[in-house]
Amino acid sequence: MNASIRAVAALLAGLAACASLARAAPDLADRLAACTACHGKEGRTINKEYLPRIAGKPAGYLFNQLLNFRDGRRSNVAMTHLLQPLSDAYLREIATYFSALELPYPAPDVAKVSADTLRRGETLVLRGDATRKLPACAACHSTQLTGVTPAIPGLLGLPSAYLSAQLGAWRAGQRRAHAPDCMSEMARSLSPEDVNAVTAWLASQPVPTPAKPVAKLDAPLPLQCGGVPQ
Ligand code: HEC
Ligand code: HEC
Repeated sequence: MNASIRAVAALLAGLAACASLARAAPDLADRLAACTACHGKEGRTINKEYLPRIAGKPAGYLFNQLLNFRDGRRSNVAMTHLLQPLSDAYLREIATYFSALELPYPAPDVAKVSADTLRRGETLVLRGDATRKLPACAACHSTQLTGVTPAIPGLLGLPSAYLSAQLGAWRAGQRRAHAPDCMSEMARSLSPEDVNAVTAWLASQPVPTPAKPVAKLDAPLPLQCGGVPQ
């Protein structure tokens, strides 16, 4: 199957499974078949090209994203359609379920960019660029880049196409987070070359074991982020 046929098949499967979300099925895992049609069994991603993994991400982060799709701060027709009828309480239950899953991560990508580009990516992610007042990604996403509970996601184990699409969506105003939206500010400070370097480097890094988000950062966040408790 080519990618677009696969996407349509996944969409149909998701919409067919949609009814299962509303039904009072006894087992939450059964009801969430509507989600795993696209996000893969137990929330591991099936489409390495684009679909984000949801298993094991911090619960507050997942909850914020479900609200973002439902309430129009992020746009994806299928996600919005599925989530529109669901209550905050149900979304929190779904977020908690996926965040508690511990599953192995896929092998990292083999980077297709030059060694210079990879070095530039590594520098921006781990150290930022003081001359441009650009904080390191690691200052918020944690030194090992596995995220911080409850609301900052890790940056490893994600497809590079997904990473660059998200940064592009923030720059274009198509993805928004709770205000103040620090990621919008970050994404707008990056040039297209920066985005290319950062996403290529991130996608080529192995996910450490354990991959769990850390409980706390060593220093305060360099910018204020909505939806993240101080
Ligand atoms: C038809 C396919 C499809 C179905 C069904 C689906 N999703 Fe998604 N989901 C996507 C796509 C595509 C994205 C990425 C959208 C984007 O570009 O922002 C996404 C993004 C997400 C994200 C954001 C992940 C992140 O790291 O920011 C979460 C959380 C999520 N989905 C949860 C769910 C849940 C829970 C369900 C079931 C109620 C579900 N999805 C059903 C396709 C689907
Ligand atoms: C000031 C803190 C901060 C800095 C610095 C920062 N981030 Fe973020 N990032 C966040 C927060 C908070 C979120 C969650 C936003 C939301 O709720 O949608 C996030 C989310 C993301 C996501 C979405 C992940 C997903 O699964 O969809 C990506 C991608 C991302 N950041 C990449 C980066 C990159 C690359 C850098 C460095 C160039 C960076 N971030 C720097 C705070 C930060």
